[in-house]
Amino acid sequence: MTTLPTATIPVIAIDGPTASGKGTVAQRVATALGFHYLDSGALYRLTALAALKQGVDLNDENRVAEVARSLNLQFFADKVILDGEDVSEQIRTESASQNASRVAAFPTVRSALTERQRAFRVAPGLVCDGRDMASVIFPDAQLKIFLTASVEARAERRTNQLKQKGNSAILADVVKELRTRDERDSNRQVAPLRKLDDAYLLDTTEISADSAVEQVLDWAKDTIQSL
Ligand code: DC
Repeated sequence: MTTLPTATIPVIAIDGPTASGKGTVAQRVATALGFHYLDSGALYRLTALAALKQGVDLNDENRVAEVARSLNLQFFADKVILDGEDVSEQIRTESASQNASRVAAFPTVRSALTERQRAFRVAPGLVCDGRDMASVIFPDAQLKIFLTASVEARAERRTNQLKQKGNSAILADVVKELRTRDERDSNRQVAPLRKLDDAYLLDTTEISADSAVEQVLDWAKDTIQSL
């Protein structure tokens, strides 16, 4: 059996702001193509959660980076296990989101997670979503997409998601939280969220998730030879 050189394994990198729908689109594209899927934001969420569980101050960059390096994780289709505990729900709360965004601003935390993310590049291919998938983690990705939507559309989607899960959510508060996170993720010194010149822009403000998935699959067929 021949092993493909990693660089030839196709990667579809989808970056974008909070609640743009990139996770849903990336997962569905991965399923349609039979590719692996990486939710890179989960790693920052897990780092912040693990640090808090170990009593580490989230302002202490070196100690948080140490936590990131030694994360003990198991990923399953529908859950993630940290040190033997199912934390799938705990990493999705609003405070977990803000904490993830805070620790993600530390350069040493980001570099501690780099190789772990690259290890997801396994045949037949990978779809990944985050903020720096195309700029830092997989700069040679065969297809790069910047997926966004207006703040109002994103806040409305997030509010509905929270309500569906039985949480109370006030649209105005959600807008404020999204803006805080967008601001931090876009203005940090390392790997800020931005659209690259060679990335396709996909604005989902006015289109359904189905149409967004279809558009990504069309681009994938145009740009990835093996499809
Ligand atoms: O995609 P998400 O909302 O689950 O990400 C949570 C936080 O993690 C986000 O506010 C910024 C950070 N993040 C990052 O800095 N780089 C990534 N590739 C993914 C997420």
